[in-house]
Amino acid sequence: MSICTPSSSSSSSSSSSESSSSTKAWIVHGVVVGAAVAVALGAHVYLKHTRSAKFRSRVVGIIPARFASSRFQGKPLVQILGKPMIQRTWERAKMATTLDQVVVATDDEKIAECCRGFGADVIMTSESCRNGTERCNEALQKLEKKYDVVVNIQGDEPLIEPEVIDGIVKALQAAPDAVFSTAVTSLKPEDAFDPNRVKCVVDTRGYAVYFSRGLIPYNKSGKVNPHFPYLLHLGIQSYDTKFLKIYPELPPTPLQLEEDLEQLKVLENGYKMKVIKVDHEAHGVDTPEDVEKIEGFMRERNLP
Ligand SMILES: *[C@@H]1O[C@H](CO)[C@@H](O)[C@H](O)[C@H]1NC(C)=O
Ligand SMILES: *[C@@H]1O[C@H](CO)[C@@H](O)[C@H](O)[C@H]1NC(C)=O
Repeated sequence: MSICTPSSSSSSSSSSSESSSSTKAWIVHGVVVGAAVAVALGAHVYLKHTRSAKFRSRVVGIIPARFASSRFQGKPLVQILGKPMIQRTWERAKMATTLDQVVVATDDEKIAECCRGFGADVIMTSESCRNGTERCNEALQKLEKKYDVVVNIQGDEPLIEPEVIDGIVKALQAAPDAVFSTAVTSLKPEDAFDPNRVKCVVDTRGYAVYFSRGLIPYNKSGKVNPHFPYLLHLGIQSYDTKFLKIYPELPPTPLQLEEDLEQLKVLENGYKMKVIKVDHEAHGVDTPEDVEKIEGFMRERNLP
């Protein structure tokens, strides 16, 4: 497997973390000023205001990454145009403005070493984590700071837009009745009957109704309706941390098992999930062949 050679652009990422910490200093200052004003206005009004303004405000982005993979050994470290895939994902995540911290959660020393090399915070998790959600949960317990929201950022989406991360965080902050948020994009007609492309239907307020590997909604004609705006589910998701603690413990549910879709467990247990629609071309890297595809795409668009 390719050896990790973090690209030299880590200097730019450290300068961006400096600028974000100076932003935080500014916000803290603003809160102090606000508190002084609040004393003048009456604490009751102030507390009420800050409570609603700060709902689910502490947010961490976690990139779960494991070395062992049945289809693609060492996948997080594969080079994409000269940079490890995990570094590309991390750099994109660092650009999101809603995240207070971005950490890589891994069971593998090689991945950890590589990530520390380009400046990432790393949390070691056990090899027994069965999936990304469990890994996020374990990492969350090991973090020193307390968070209200966790964004599970898939390490195999190196072109994830920071705006998508910010979008699902803001959606969860704005929907107190939801415990989970995720994103969808337009489904391409050629993916309509591909069971690996998960479809989603939402209600009029943007809450998920159902996810399926089959085409939903299903047109009476049995064909794809060229006029219907079908939705493709993207892997990124964020959860309320209180929900994340109970999520892995919830027993599997019939629809989840039948479709082999984890997120159905959330809906089948009666929890609400907020969905945002974004413009995003999915470039997930699942196999070595996908690396060439994504590199071709990046060259075409002149992406660095
Ligand atoms: C099904 O798709 C066709 C276009 O292919 C559309 O005209 C029709 O309204 C859709 N719905 C039903 C119920 O046929
Ligand atoms: C991860 O595995 C646990 C079982 O240990 C299960 O409860 C949970 O639903 C799984 N989550 C995902 C995303 O597969």
